[in-house]
Amino acid sequence: MAKSRGSPSRAIFKLEEIENMAATFIKQQNQKRQKKKKKPISPKVFHPSCTVIDLGAAPGSWTQWIGERLDSNGILIALDLLELDERTVNGIEYNEDGPSFHCIQGDFTKNEKKQHILDILLEEDKSHGVDCVISDMAANFTGDSLTDALRTMNLCEDALMLAAGSSCFDPRFIPTTSKSDGVLRNGGTFLCKFFACGQTNEEDLREAIGRNFEVSTVLKPKASRKESAELYMFATGYKGGQNQ
Ligand SMILES: C[S@@+](CC[C@H](N)C(=O)[O-])C[C@H]1O[C@@H](n2cnc3c(N)ncnc32)[C@H](O)[C@@H]1O
Repeated sequence: MAKSRGSPSRAIFKLEEIENMAATFIKQQNQKRQKKKKKPISPKVFHPSCTVIDLGAAPGSWTQWIGERLDSNGILIALDLLELDERTVNGIEYNEDGPSFHCIQGDFTKNEKKQHILDILLEEDKSHGVDCVISDMAANFTGDSLTDALRTMNLCEDALMLAAGSSCFDPRFIPTTSKSDGVLRNGGTFLCKFFACGQTNEEDLREAIGRNFEVSTVLKPKASRKESAELYMFATGYKGGQNQ
C-alpha cells in the first residue's frame, strides 16, 4: 500500500493515524477545558505554514507526507543518520509551492547536529518559532529489548530538550515564568516514538511533558504492529515558548 502511494515506507500510515487520533484527543480535551473555562488548544497539528523538525526521518515517509502539507511559507527540517530516499527529497525540493526544506545527515545526539538545526532556525528567523518537533528515531537494535527501549528513550529525552529546552527535566523549572532555550513556540507540539519499558524508566519523560505542555497522551496507531512495544507520546500546548 505504501509503494502504491509512492511512499518509501509504511510509516506514513502511522503518522496519518496519529494525526487523526491527536485531533480526536484535542477535541475531547477542549470539551473538558471549555467546562473549566480554560483556553482551547489549537485543533490542528500541521497547518500549511508551519515549521516542523522531523528527527529520525529516513527513509522519508513522514517527511514526504509533511512536505506535501506545507506551502511555501512552511519550513521543514529533516534529520537522520541515514540518507533520505531521493524521491522524497526531490519531491519536496522540486515543488515550487512547497516548504523551505533542509535535510541533515548525521547523529542527532551530537552537539554539532543540534547546532546545525539551531543555525538553520536562526537563518529562517524561527529560533523559538517551531510549531512541531517530531521524532520517529529508534536506536539500532541490539537484540535485548530493554536495552533497545532505554536507548530509544534517551533519544526521546534528547528530542524533548531540543523542543522544550535544557531545563525541561528540572522539576523546579516553571515553563510559564522562566525563560526556555527550547525551539518550540508557545502552544507548539511534540511527538516521539518510544518503546514501553516500565513506569520507572518512562517517568522522567512523562513528568517533563506533563509540566511543559497543556495536554499529552500516549498513542498506539493500528499501523504499528500489535506485538511491538512501540508507542507514541503526543503532547501539545507548549507552555514555555514565545508567542508568534
Ligand atoms: C523507524 S525509522 C524512521 C522512519 C521515518 N519516520 C519514515 O517515515 O520513513 C527510525 C530512524 O531513526 C534513525 N535514527 C536512530 N538513531 C538516530 C540518531 N541518533 N540520530 C539520527 N537518526 C537516528 C534511524 O537511522 C532510522 O532511519
